[in-house]
Amino acid sequence: MTPSKYSKILGTGSYIPSRTLTNQELEKMVDTSNEWIIERTGIKERRLAKLDGSETCSEMGAFAAKKAMEAANIKPDEIDLILFATVSPDYKLPSTAAVLQQKLGIKNECPCLDIVAACSGFLYGLVIADSMIKTGIYKNILIIGAELLQPFVDWTDRTTCILFADGAGAAVLGRADENDSSKILSSTLSCDGTGDKLLFVPSGGSASPLNKEKLERKEDKLVMEGKQIFKYATRTMMRNSQMALEAAHLSVSDLQWFIPHQANLRIIEYLAKKLEINMEKIIVTVEKYGNNSAATIPIALDEAVRAGKIKRGDKCAMTAFGAGVTSGAVVLQY
Ligand code: COA
Repeated sequence: MTPSKYSKILGTGSYIPSRTLTNQELEKMVDTSNEWIIERTGIKERRLAKLDGSETCSEMGAFAAKKAMEAANIKPDEIDLILFATVSPDYKLPSTAAVLQQKLGIKNECPCLDIVAACSGFLYGLVIADSMIKTGIYKNILIIGAELLQPFVDWTDRTTCILFADGAGAAVLGRADENDSSKILSSTLSCDGTGDKLLFVPSGGSASPLNKEKLERKEDKLVMEGKQIFKYATRTMMRNSQMALEAAHLSVSDLQWFIPHQANLRIIEYLAKKLEINMEKIIVTVEKYGNNSAATIPIALDEAVRAGKIKRGDKCAMTAFGAGVTSGAVVLQY
């Protein structure tokens, strides 16, 4: 295939799990209060997937992907590559992308790949897909960000269980030319591996296989240095946003919309202040969905598109940070 000057988002989709967990319910589970959670995080409630197999990571991803393909007007066998961003895969192996392929009825044996970049995973996927479309290797790429974090959360640890949630979002990326009003304009990705233990699951990987003692110590659950992560979050999202805007020859005032990773409303407000972006331009979903990691940005994007807020041609920046510590930003005309 000939190279393409640009890529563009052809369509988006999302899936929000049915169960709502409110702050009032959390008050009964751990020593916390609705007021504390709202003041420190902005989260009022979050969504959790059913654990009966009907809302697995791949199932939620499939719901979101089908909506994105429908919006993009792309048939299953027109998908050339599946990129599935998640840190909560259905299985250690095979990839969740491979599990998803058959659920979408894709029979063309397209390559399938998981991306492990935590909350930055969807943007990592977007950047990889953008470059593969530009080189002409693939025409239509499906990118999913989906998480079922519930099994990795210690529901007796008030410092983490108030934050995390489940959900899925997706987008189909395709070719665009110079005159197209929709296109990805610029992007940056980064990772500072010195922060690899700031948000991590200590055991269950090959470095520390699980045993009875480790399970008793709950080493299969997420641990987090909240304050440190907060600092990384604001620093990395600010730097990546500025770099991507500069590469697109745009300034903050040129943007119609800004979608940051939805981890904490305080982080979003701090970032808005530092970047001098009006909160009205920022898509916020964290108060109702919590932090569903790789799914936050595609869900926020899809909701804003379907609500008629983000329109074709609108300039939009997206930025994320996550365990690793990974980070990135993408600037596009939707
Ligand atoms: N309810 C009530 N009190 C709580 C609490 C809870 N859920 N969690 C912690 N506390 C307590 C602490 O024990 C501490 O008590 P102390 O002063 O007696 O020691 C006090 O509240 C302040 O805790 P601190 O950790 O300083 O609060 P904070 O303002 O830093 O907020 C986070 C904590 C986790 C909300 C905040 O640090 C944060 O959001 N960090 C980023 C996390 C993140 O984004 N993770 C996802 C990355 S993708």
